[in-house]
Amino acid sequence: MILAVETSCDDTCAAVLDDGRVLSNIVSSQAKVHEGFGGVVPEIASRHHLELVNPVVDAALAEADCGLDDVEAIAVTTHPGLIGALLVGLSSAKALAAARRLPMIAVDHLQGHVASAFLEPDPLEPPFLALIASGGHTLLAAVRDHGSHEVIGRTLDDAAGEALDKAARLLGLGYPGGPAIQRAAEAGDPGSFPMPVAMSREPGLDFSFSGLKTALAYTVRDLGEGGVEERRADLAASFQAAVVSQLVAKAGRALDEGDWDALALGGGVAANGPLREALGAACERRGVRLKLVPPALCTDNAAMIGSAARWAPRTAYPDYLGWDAAAR
Ligand code: KG4
Ligand code: ZN
Repeated sequence: MILAVETSCDDTCAAVLDDGRVLSNIVSSQAKVHEGFGGVVPEIASRHHLELVNPVVDAALAEADCGLDDVEAIAVTTHPGLIGALLVGLSSAKALAAARRLPMIAVDHLQGHVASAFLEPDPLEPPFLALIASGGHTLLAAVRDHGSHEVIGRTLDDAAGEALDKAARLLGLGYPGGPAIQRAAEAGDPGSFPMPVAMSREPGLDFSFSGLKTALAYTVRDLGEGGVEERRADLAASFQAAVVSQLVAKAGRALDEGDWDALALGGGVAANGPLREALGAACERRGVRLKLVPPALCTDNAAMIGSAARWAPRTAYPDYLGWDAAAR
């Protein structure tokens, strides 16, 4: 069995996997803690991880109905992420592993998001194309084997989730912004405010969301407080539609340029209903299978880290004691 620990951002996560089976997947979210700030405050995140990591590991073992005696290796996210947050998970994992002389497995957080597609239900086997869109990252990855991925497109500025979070703040909606925008957008008309669908005419597979955010900021300024209040649903719908259409346009382009049979959608933004629908239609048109990673495996979690760990090298005690975390 593998015990996996993930603390790269604001969720404290631990999971136990038996081969590809997820026996437990515990996430203690700090979203409420950071809500008032409109985003994650790194120092606060680290302090909370410190308090939560042991109880979360205990809960993961308890739910899997096993103890540390049953664990053969400990996997942990080492990069990328908030450095202080990563260090809490890495230090805890090292302490657990060293005390029992267990091997450790260092996992790239993004490979974790990719590896969430290998898990039940309906596990996807490489090769496939992956679109990962979260608060920290937005990328297209070519996945040709279980152990790695090649980034073929990435955001040049904000991540898609970050853009949604900033837009929600501009519109006076809550944090995290993605779900708040989706809810507000239900009553709105996505065509009411023209938003730039950046990069759609540019060749290549990179994304850009900062122009979109600026466009919204100007619209909000011009409308004034009362205007925003009145048109909030339309603004949310228009912004969301622009984010979705950029993601779908680039994923479609990558599918057209390659020879892919399947596309996996992961990351926190993958919970977005309109994105799922639009990507579903884009895949259907091309005869490509769309693998929608279940929501619990889309947002940050340790099961995906345990999944990636199955195809990553194990390092014996004490060679991992000097490991460091890295922000990138
Ligand atoms: O993967 P995740 O939990 O953490 C990061 O690694 O960033 O993703 C969080 C992001 C946030 O920006 C949040 O606004 C966005 O995912 N998100 C959504 C939805 N649910 C979460 N975005 C759009 N629609 C949603 N329903
Ligand atoms: Zn993530």
